[in-house]
Amino acid sequence: MDLQFTVNQDLCIQCGACAEDCPLRVIEMESGYPVLNPSRIRLCIRCQHCLAVCPTGALSIFGFKPENSLPLPESLPSVQQLTALIKGRRSTRRFLAEPLDPDLIRQMIVTVANGPTGKNNRQCLFTVIEDPASMAVFRHEIMEGLRRAVAEKRLSEGLSYFRHVVSAWDKGRDIIFRNAPHLLIVTVPPTITTPDADIIIAMSYFELLAATMGIGTLWNAMIRWAISTINVDLYQRLNIPEDHIKSYALLFGRPDVEYHRTVQRDEAMINLVSLA
Ligand SMILES: Cc1cc2nc3c(=O)[nH]c(=O)nc-3n(C[C@H](O)[C@H](O)[C@H](O)COP(=O)(O)O)c2cc1C
Repeated sequence: MDLQFTVNQDLCIQCGACAEDCPLRVIEMESGYPVLNPSRIRLCIRCQHCLAVCPTGALSIFGFKPENSLPLPESLPSVQQLTALIKGRRSTRRFLAEPLDPDLIRQMIVTVANGPTGKNNRQCLFTVIEDPASMAVFRHEIMEGLRRAVAEKRLSEGLSYFRHVVSAWDKGRDIIFRNAPHLLIVTVPPTITTPDADIIIAMSYFELLAATMGIGTLWNAMIRWAISTINVDLYQRLNIPEDHIKSYALLFGRPDVEYHRTVQRDEAMINLVSLA
């Protein structure tokens, strides 16, 4: 495996930070400079910590040059900004019909794909409904499937709520989709060791990034339950591989609502432990 690992000896200050931070000890110091340990190269999880930790930008790996990374810490948001983002993000249940620029959606996903995944597997598949016509078809298929399930009395007790969803739909109220123009579903192959976390982290990052861009999101359990209830392989229609692990959906688009302040939640439940 060629990791394209190069060290600019003019810039390297021989601090050893890259070797120290390598989680699988693939890098070691030799004659003062970092080198790859040939017997451990196959263990590399491609995390790029070596590139990120080098204080002088002397190290390149996988062909990635340090000058193409964002500089830290000056690029990070302030504590106040991130606190406001976490407290100020809201579930959007009123969307404008206008679709987002497809390039913008792609850029968002490229950013979000930087989130952590178990063993740095990075196998999340981001399935997006981009055009409103497809969204309309998807919405229609779910609603008609639910209508059939209601008529044929196939709803389990826990999902009898869908009866109201269908009757609201007939009166022009879209309780599941809230007229959102787009949908994101993140899935991972079954071979992944941390599927649930990888999916939820990717979705959470998407939600937060969207909030900074004035884009509203709505986590959606109802779509997941609806698909399992109506028993039609809508995932297949979305080109999601059959064996992929599925989770919740995220609706998104420009909000037709503006929030002017954060909400004020109850105190967090904290279990501070002292065993000494
Ligand atoms: C996993 C998950 C699934 C959710 N599913 C739905 C849903 O199907 N429909 C809906 O309107 N809201 C859904 N929500 C949104 C929650 O109701 C919402 O986060 C909560 O009421 C707090 O409001 P806030 O997000 O504005 O802080 C879901 C949230 C999560 C985390």
